[in-house]
Amino acid sequence: MMDKSEASRRIPQLRETITRHDELYYRQGSLEIEDQQYDALKRELAELEAAYPELAEGPSPTERVGDDRTEGFAKVKHRERMMSLDNTYSEAELREFDARLLRIFPEGKLSYVVEPKIDGVAVCLTYENGKLVRAVTRGNGVEGDDVTANVREGVPNLPDRLAGDAPSLIEIRGELYMTHAEFQRINSEREEKQLPLFANPRNLTAGTIKQLAGVGGRRLEIVLYGLGACEPRTFARQSEFHDAVKAWKLPTLEKYWMAENIDEAWKRIEKLDTLRHDFTYETDGAVIKLDDFALQAEAGATAKSPRWAIAYKFAAEQAETLLEKIDVQIGRTGAVTPVAHLQPVQLAGTTVSRATLHNEDEIARKDIRPGDTVVVQKAGEIIPQVLRVVTDKRPADSQPFDFAAFLKQKNIEAERVPGQAFWRLKGRDDPALIRRKLKHFASKPCLDIENLGEAVVDQLVSRGLARTPADLYTLKVEDLLELDKFAQKSSENLVSAIDASRDKEVWRLVHALGIPNVGAQSAKDLIAHFHSLPALMRATGEELIEVDGIGEIVARSIHSFFKDEEQLELVNRLIEHGLRIEEEAPAAPAEDAPLSGKTVVLTGTLPSLSRSEATALIEKAGGKSSSSVSKKTDYVLAGDSAGSKLDKARKLGVTIIDESSFREMIGE
Ligand code: IVH
Repeated sequence: MMDKSEASRRIPQLRETITRHDELYYRQGSLEIEDQQYDALKRELAELEAAYPELAEGPSPTERVGDDRTEGFAKVKHRERMMSLDNTYSEAELREFDARLLRIFPEGKLSYVVEPKIDGVAVCLTYENGKLVRAVTRGNGVEGDDVTANVREGVPNLPDRLAGDAPSLIEIRGELYMTHAEFQRINSEREEKQLPLFANPRNLTAGTIKQLAGVGGRRLEIVLYGLGACEPRTFARQSEFHDAVKAWKLPTLEKYWMAENIDEAWKRIEKLDTLRHDFTYETDGAVIKLDDFALQAEAGATAKSPRWAIAYKFAAEQAETLLEKIDVQIGRTGAVTPVAHLQPVQLAGTTVSRATLHNEDEIARKDIRPGDTVVVQKAGEIIPQVLRVVTDKRPADSQPFDFAAFLKQKNIEAERVPGQAFWRLKGRDDPALIRRKLKHFASKPCLDIENLGEAVVDQLVSRGLARTPADLYTLKVEDLLELDKFAQKSSENLVSAIDASRDKEVWRLVHALGIPNVGAQSAKDLIAHFHSLPALMRATGEELIEVDGIGEIVARSIHSFFKDEEQLELVNRLIEHGLRIEEEAPAAPAEDAPLSGKTVVLTGTLPSLSRSEATALIEKAGGKSSSSVSKKTDYVLAGDSAGSKLDKARKLGVTIIDESSFREMIGE
């Protein structure tokens, strides 16, 4: 144990670091360190605070649950506090937990329930008279964010009504998560659009449920395992509650076990470890709970967690392999990220041959070198991490990896971003980046310029014929004749394909600009809303967020893109070259337009139209789109997982239509 003067320096340091990681995890749903490292920091702090209580004054992250509350959501108090759990990686500590309970209940025969610990996002559902009325995040444990709309929209497997008899009021707690399949689907779409990939399903779940503009077609799942308030009090045991969850036809744990003592509980935990990779959700441990609610109440809780339950966490799966070489990956925005190429190895059920190395500092901190034997780990994330080097196995002639020298040797002109750990291609003159941008600009989901594929772009750049997309519009047939495999006819074809791209839809141009985080769908939504590129460029952050499907991150990134001189110059040159920047002015709807004078409310997810597209069609047909249902609403256009608006429409007798009758109505 450290001495007091050391501890007086270390405690504030630890508090700050942990608070920062809490922020990252709970509010932004992202991670910088592994679970186990985080837990170790927290434990170190708890031990120091216990040893030197005089240094432990003021609020400490060891005694609070994290806080996921985010601006923009209504706050709702939980009827019963949502606590978090103490956790341990050691069997001995698990046995201590049991010993502590046996001291409280010396005469007791303690039965436990052993459950999988799901690595998702905690949520509390309230059902009143059997009907779902609210879904709230844990928040700070006392109050959380009202995410009812997103839960209704994003979790199609959650029943709106409990089957059979139900208490008049009940809070049911559980975990939101995303399946691997859905996670892969979203990431491969993003890969196609050259957007940054999400790190793991948990972060994406947290991010999705906290989107102000709805879940954007992402599908989440839920599993329910916990009881909060309940009127009248109906249950005596956790196992009884599990049975009820099943009987109400709510999604429940795939498996849980009863154990009559800690030895049995330990056996169940080991069993769980052999089964859990086949579950549809990520599990990172087991939760051991006293089965009897009366004993739970008697055991009570500390400031942060109950004494009647503990989480035993499984160490993340690790494997040793050879790091064959370090290479870099260049993102669309020019970020240069180091990647480890590994000798393929089996890990958590998949073959792993690449791992992220994050950045230069991470390589230096862990002293990772090509030729090293490394330990790789995969916890919830899809992309594995290099945890550490097995220095015993390091070749004698090994040298520390010099990132700057490596980039130089590969002729990558990059610079370290001031104050940050990552590198970015220098200026925007790097040929690799220029090529990337041109390819993106010409690609199918952007301006879709025929015959302007990879090989042609490479030649245009290497021969100095084009540096920016605007240069494409100055190319002449003669210029192209010098390219490989180009003759008169093919040159003419390319020039006319480029020419034709001037008149493509405006959203394609917006997508083609390569604004970070703006893919094809966002571009469509933005143009459906603003109708022109100049209007989009003028939009304030607030105006951007008003667009359905556009969140804060995207808004910020659009805003800073159009503030960048170089980008502005590019956009202006494109405008000068006559690219279309305004949607054809919608003819003012005629008096007898199909929806003239009608108000339409959209709810749920439509099979083929995004919200913005549907809104644009409503307006084009002379109608007005509104966000709330009232007696004055003429139609409710309802899609999948429509929630309370649909209920209200039914109550008020408003005509409900689906996408196909809507299309018919407006003559599309
Ligand atoms: S019981 C007071 N059971 O893990 C009891 N929690 O680290 C609190 N979790 O906040 C929860 N699976 O979000 C419980 N089978 C399970 C769980 C579980 C996952 C989460 C939950 C909790 C966190 C605690």
